Amino acid sequence: MKTALITGITGQDGSYLADFLLSKGYSVYGLVRRKSKLDFNNAEHLKDKVHFIFGDMTDQASLIRAMEIANPDEVYNLAAQSFVTASWETPLSTADINAIGVTNILETIRLIKPKARFYQASTSEMFGKVQEIPQKESTPFYPRSPYGVSKLYGHWITKNYRESYGLYACSGILFNHESERRGEEFVTRKISTAVAKIKCGKQDILELGNLDAKRDWGHSEDYIKAMWLMLQQETPDDFVIATGENHSIREFVELAFKEVDIEIEWHGLGAKEYATFKGTDKAVVRVNPQFYRPAEVETLLGDPSKAESDLGWKREVSFLELVKRMVDHDLKWIQKS
Ligand code: NAP
Ligand code: GDD
Repeated sequence: MKTALITGITGQDGSYLADFLLSKGYSVYGLVRRKSKLDFNNAEHLKDKVHFIFGDMTDQASLIRAMEIANPDEVYNLAAQSFVTASWETPLSTADINAIGVTNILETIRLIKPKARFYQASTSEMFGKVQEIPQKESTPFYPRSPYGVSKLYGHWITKNYRESYGLYACSGILFNHESERRGEEFVTRKISTAVAKIKCGKQDILELGNLDAKRDWGHSEDYIKAMWLMLQQETPDDFVIATGENHSIREFVELAFKEVDIEIEWHGLGAKEYATFKGTDKAVVRVNPQFYRPAEVETLLGDPSKAESDLGWKREVSFLELVKRMVDHDLKWIQKS
């Protein structure tokens, strides 16, 4: 039986990865942060199946302790301050967790169990202001946020430990992936919960920032399988994981409201106050510059052909299916609450 240690197990990907590894017979350990209130977030259902270890990516002593307790064959480093907007508000702690935190765990592996295989959660945000379309493994990076910059450090230090010490260390450059477990401040989940609340009469209006940004969106359950596949190869390597198609935020909104048969009334910048429009049976979607970013990543489109040919990976959930699953889930959730 193999053993895995997952950092970020309470997050979207960490919880799906734990489900997947348990189904493959792994013994799973998960690093969780101590908070004022005990909260396992997306890993609530895993409480009896996973060994939780308290720790923090910024506290190397806790990582050493976690490595000693788990003695893992595979380490998946999914922990991060992952919300791009927040990285302008907390740039230093973002760097501490997402950049230095990766060195903390790599050093821990090097010292305690150099044979353990390591997965680093790299991101398409590193391509930022894209230098090539579509983006592949060889595309030059140009991050556009403190988050993207911090992740680029994590990416390169992973490569460096592979080349310096011969660790089996891989980075998955994953494009956006969403799910029913996505954090509510990310745009897809913000839209799906708003659609559900508007349908149930619990919200009046959906306010968003840049509607024209485009993302290459897949489902997290497909993407965590790619992480596992990367650690099952003969030699470590880095891979782009994406769908190869992209859509605008506006398209996501349109499909999500279509799912509940509600028409949209778009209010762009400079539109009259919402109060004027109350009483309409359409859903009001309004642009609010409060949600603009200091520097935007306008478009991301990945080329997953290397992962498809070398790992045999393929996404299964289509864009339409993703939107449908998220809206259906949130509708049930809001109706129940
Ligand atoms: P997520 O839902 O935000 O989960 C982040 C996890 O990191 C949570 O479990 C969080 O714990 C934990 N964490 C944060 N700071 C920590 C710290 N200092 N010490 C220990 N744990 C800490 O993110 P996700 O969407 O699952 O993404 C997983 C990883 O993939 C992240 O590294 C993200 O940057 C990267 N990524 C995500 C995407 C995507 O589209 N989802 C794409 C590319 C790369 P709490 O529950 O305590 O907050
Ligand atoms: N969050 C949010 N809220 N984004 C909005 C909004 C809004 O109200 N309105 C428009 N957007 C736009 C953002 O400006 C951005 O262009 C796009 O929607 C996607 O934003 P997010 O869903 O917050 O995701 P992200 O692309 O910035 O980052 C996610 O994907 C990365 C991979 O490319 C995160 O999961 C990162 O952790 C991940 O690395």
